[in-house]
Amino acid sequence: MAETTPEITSRRKLSGYELYRDVLGSPKYVVAPMVEQSELAWRKLSRRYGAQLIYSPMINAKMFVDSTNKTYRRANFDLISGEEGDPTIDRPLIVQFCANDPEQLLASAKVVEDHCDAVDLNLGCPQDIAKRGRYGSFLQDDWDLIYKLINILHTNLSIPVTAKFRVFPTVEKTVEYAKMLEQAGAQILTCHGRLREQRGQLTGLADWDKIRAVKQAVSVPVFANGNILYQSDIDACLKATGCDGVMSAEGQLYNPALFAGIEHPLDSPDYDSDEQILIRHPRHADLALEYLDVVMSLKTTTSVGGIKGHLFKIMRPGLLRELDLRDKLGKVKINPKKVKECLGAYRTVCEEMKARMERDEQAVKGTPLKDLITVEPITGIKVMPHWLAQPYFRPSPEQKEAYALANGLEEATEDSVATSPSKSKRPLEEPTEVGDDTKRARLVLEETNGARITESLQGNVIPA
Ligand SMILES: Cc1cc2nc3c(=O)[nH]c(=O)nc-3n(C[C@H](O)[C@H](O)[C@H](O)COP(=O)(O)O)c2cc1C
Repeated sequence: MAETTPEITSRRKLSGYELYRDVLGSPKYVVAPMVEQSELAWRKLSRRYGAQLIYSPMINAKMFVDSTNKTYRRANFDLISGEEGDPTIDRPLIVQFCANDPEQLLASAKVVEDHCDAVDLNLGCPQDIAKRGRYGSFLQDDWDLIYKLINILHTNLSIPVTAKFRVFPTVEKTVEYAKMLEQAGAQILTCHGRLREQRGQLTGLADWDKIRAVKQAVSVPVFANGNILYQSDIDACLKATGCDGVMSAEGQLYNPALFAGIEHPLDSPDYDSDEQILIRHPRHADLALEYLDVVMSLKTTTSVGGIKGHLFKIMRPGLLRELDLRDKLGKVKINPKKVKECLGAYRTVCEEMKARMERDEQAVKGTPLKDLITVEPITGIKVMPHWLAQPYFRPSPEQKEAYALANGLEEATEDSVATSPSKSKRPLEEPTEVGDDTKRARLVLEETNGARITESLQGNVIPA
């Protein structure tokens, strides 16, 4: 490594913990970089609900460096509207890039360095597009290049550089890799505890043991990423990994209030009162409408496709039942030239959803919310009443198989597992029976990865 290492000659940079404490305010609750989803409007909404640090969506340095490509620049970091990175509304903020050319990365990062608190390098993207473009996790095997990418920012930017990466199959290699990133100059590391191969259907569980080993091996702050669905997971993750903060992507997208009221102790007597549950799991149609209000309040344009993606995720539990609204939302034509019309159509769907969810809530008026919570028997995940925001757990192929077996189906979709056990609109207070088929299905799971899932996510499961 030494012969390829450019010498560090820059002015003194903030060290990891100076950045973490003095600039970022010691954030424990972090929203992940998400293409088309951690945009300014989402960041504004998320901060209202307890997010302490947010990453921008990944920006492709190769495209962003081209100052003549005004459309790409404006869509990815809108300096003209002046709101992105504005200290009064959009901090703390870390802007993320993907790159495979150090000079391009530096030139791109220079454009945003006065508008954010640090620049992050994406070393985790496992998608085919990243394979084709040779970035993200597909750089994992070229440590010299990664070193150069990080080090050029460390040496030449006025703000610190950070890095987000996936784990390797062994703890030893993962730790060695993390140390190399630190040596190159990364001042915060985010460790996503999944392998490059763990994506889509194979997403599975993140490995907190590897994240813990990374935290123990480096002296810069570390954020743990993966497996955060409920607030109880946050506490469990911080304890299990010893990390400085947790980062959530999907959990927070489906429930933007994931971090809301988090200082309220888990063991307090009123933890499961209606009031506390509603702080952690607000009514999703209200959240969707609030998000649209934020979008409307900004000068910065939000991608209409991105907005639709958010609405599908926030209102998912309702849309799985109100199929006509799902169709209606799906059919809204995404036309960037007709933003107002799109927003109007989105709002109509959200308002109708709100009315229907109020109707359903009214039907069980008087029943404490905690008595309406069920447990999905295959995944062991807690299912909130369908009018409340809640996480979505992507079932593994084995879990889908087990679900199909338990329900006499030829095959099960992700939606069918997600809506169980309340998909048939039977009264939610009805206790969930665990029948023989389900028991058999559980055995199938235990032979595969089910036992680990139940164990690892036990914080999510209400004791039977
Ligand atoms: C919609 C979406 C977009 C994502 N975009 C990015 C991205 O731009 N940069 C990145 O490093 N990771 C990206 N990711 C990965 C997440 O940041 C995160 O590492 C991954 O989803 C695991 O966290 P989770 O288990 O909390 O979902 C994205 C994930 C999702 C769901």
